[in-house]
Amino acid sequence: MFYSKIKAVGAYVPEYTVTNDDLSKIVDTNDEWISSRSGIRRRHFSKGENTSDLAAKAAEVILKKAGVKAEDVELIVVASVSPDYATPSVSCLVQSKIGAVNAVAFDIGAACSGFVFGLSTADKFIKSGVYKNALVIGSEVLSKYLDFEDRGTCVLFGDGAGGAFLERSEEGGILSEDMGSDGARGLSLTSGFRNVVNPYCEGERFIHSYIEMDGREIFDFATRTVPKSVEALIEKAGISVEDIDIVVPHQANARIVQIVARKLKIPMEKFYLNMEEYGNTSSASIPIALNEMDNKGLIKKGDTVLITGFGAGLTWGSMLIKF
Ligand code: ACO
Repeated sequence: MFYSKIKAVGAYVPEYTVTNDDLSKIVDTNDEWISSRSGIRRRHFSKGENTSDLAAKAAEVILKKAGVKAEDVELIVVASVSPDYATPSVSCLVQSKIGAVNAVAFDIGAACSGFVFGLSTADKFIKSGVYKNALVIGSEVLSKYLDFEDRGTCVLFGDGAGGAFLERSEEGGILSEDMGSDGARGLSLTSGFRNVVNPYCEGERFIHSYIEMDGREIFDFATRTVPKSVEALIEKAGISVEDIDIVVPHQANARIVQIVARKLKIPMEKFYLNMEEYGNTSSASIPIALNEMDNKGLIKKGDTVLITGFGAGLTWGSMLIKF
């Protein structure tokens, strides 16, 4: 039996920062509303780099930290809801940009749960012996999908990429997971819609690319579902909450995290939050946070880390990882 272990984490975030005050100059909002409702004070926006550019730069950081050559990567999985193109995939563009000529590359779409779903997918390939290693990346340029006239959404999101290099190991690594989907509630968070118009189905072309969200519905979903998912995960793993050293949640909203922490009876000190600096970067938020913690020396060898993502789909995914 094989296991997957995280050998390195890394991230790349565009340099350009937009504060809440900056946004208040273009939309009817203010720093007090945004920070008290979400915990967000700044976000990084791309000034032209697309999703595969961010992902490739994150990949280079990860491989450097792992001490692995691009040509030795066997699998690339990119999670994104903001790809450069519908096709080719972000992962194929990354493969070409970093020179991972021997890798198999494909994308998955699970929104803010995408990094957890990506790790889970790569883990299965490694566990089954098909591949010895995998690069898993979450990358988003959400700014291109934001309606800067909709104050309810444009203040919440940011751009960035992060990921991890997984390697076959004698011991896990990835210890346990719990994932789920509720498509019936999917239309409460949408982007990138095109209706069908062709020579045999005429009508008005309707392209709805902006992110649209029922914030209350998502808030309710996240605060109900994440605690249940974590409880299910802990039970499957046969551990107790006290055995968890660090929790890295999807960085959507500090209030959601506070409610989740209270329900799970896990002290807030165990949660790592950085939405203040990056906003919600969807699939990239968990690996950006892991990379930041790693760079600050906050994750020690042997730590049991819980990551938990939730978002559009609706989807959710929690995973226990031994570093
Ligand atoms: N600035 C100032 N006022 C605003 C803003 C803004 N940016 N946005 C909305 N308002 C106003 C509204 O117009 C409304 O005014 P009204 O009462 O006069 O109509 C008032 O503030 C309250 O609006 P609500 O939407 O009810 O505010 P709420 O307290 O629910 O907070 C929020 C909104 C922050 C979006 C919250 O619902 C939330 O965090 N939801 C979860 C969102 C989330 O986490 N999404 C991402 C997860 S999925 C993924 O990551 C892809």
